[in-house]
Amino acid sequence: MPILFPPNEFIKVKELLVLYRCALRNMETRMDILLEDFDNLQNHNPIEHIKRRLKSYESIAQKLHRLGHPITSDSARKNLTDIAGLRCICSYAKDITYIADVFKNQPDMKVISEKNYVTKPKPSGYRSHHIILEVPIYLTDTVHRLPVEIQIRTQAMDFWASLEHKIRYKYKTGMPPHLAEGLRECAAQISDLDERMYKIQELIDIAY
Ligand code: GTP
Ligand code: MG
Repeated sequence: MPILFPPNEFIKVKELLVLYRCALRNMETRMDILLEDFDNLQNHNPIEHIKRRLKSYESIAQKLHRLGHPITSDSARKNLTDIAGLRCICSYAKDITYIADVFKNQPDMKVISEKNYVTKPKPSGYRSHHIILEVPIYLTDTVHRLPVEIQIRTQAMDFWASLEHKIRYKYKTGMPPHLAEGLRECAAQISDLDERMYKIQELIDIAY
């Protein structure tokens, strides 16, 4: 049975999603500006690419239901911080903290929460740096401050996370232990690979 918002909430949720779309665009523009800066003013561009997503009506309703919250637009605004999400994929693990700091230091945004699964990976092996930032959206007569979730990780970490997500989705009732173990091993190898690639890049930097 799909979980849906009640019909009398449709317009309010639609209006809320317009605000989140603005917040996502705002954050994406900040990332684009950084890309310009790295491309033109710095000698190294740490960002490989950026992905963005806005949660669908269905997944907002499903998540509220799963967490036991009312399925209303007010409840979504109050209880969810990942309606708007941006993923920043970097070249090297050491770039992750650097990019996180650049965003955390932007004075018109507020850090709501931060989880560093790079220094402290999840038991699954998942590695990524998550920050929830509150972005101001200036409308004609009001200011809204909305949370946007940023996930910063390397290409190798992203590769791992998308495979693990696919496998977890396939085995909804629980991943077979041998696959979970295989993924943990891959995560450790990826961590090692990220480190070795960085060291090679450092050697090139010194040589040229
Ligand atoms: P969610 O309710 O899933 O949003 O988790 P949370 O509120 O505990 O926050 P957390 O920072 O742990 O996770 C946020 C998001 O990170 C998830 O929605 C996923 O996109 C991603 N994520 C977290 N853990 C894992 C994991 O073990 N594997 C993968 N593939 N992605 C993960
Ligand atoms: Mg989430």
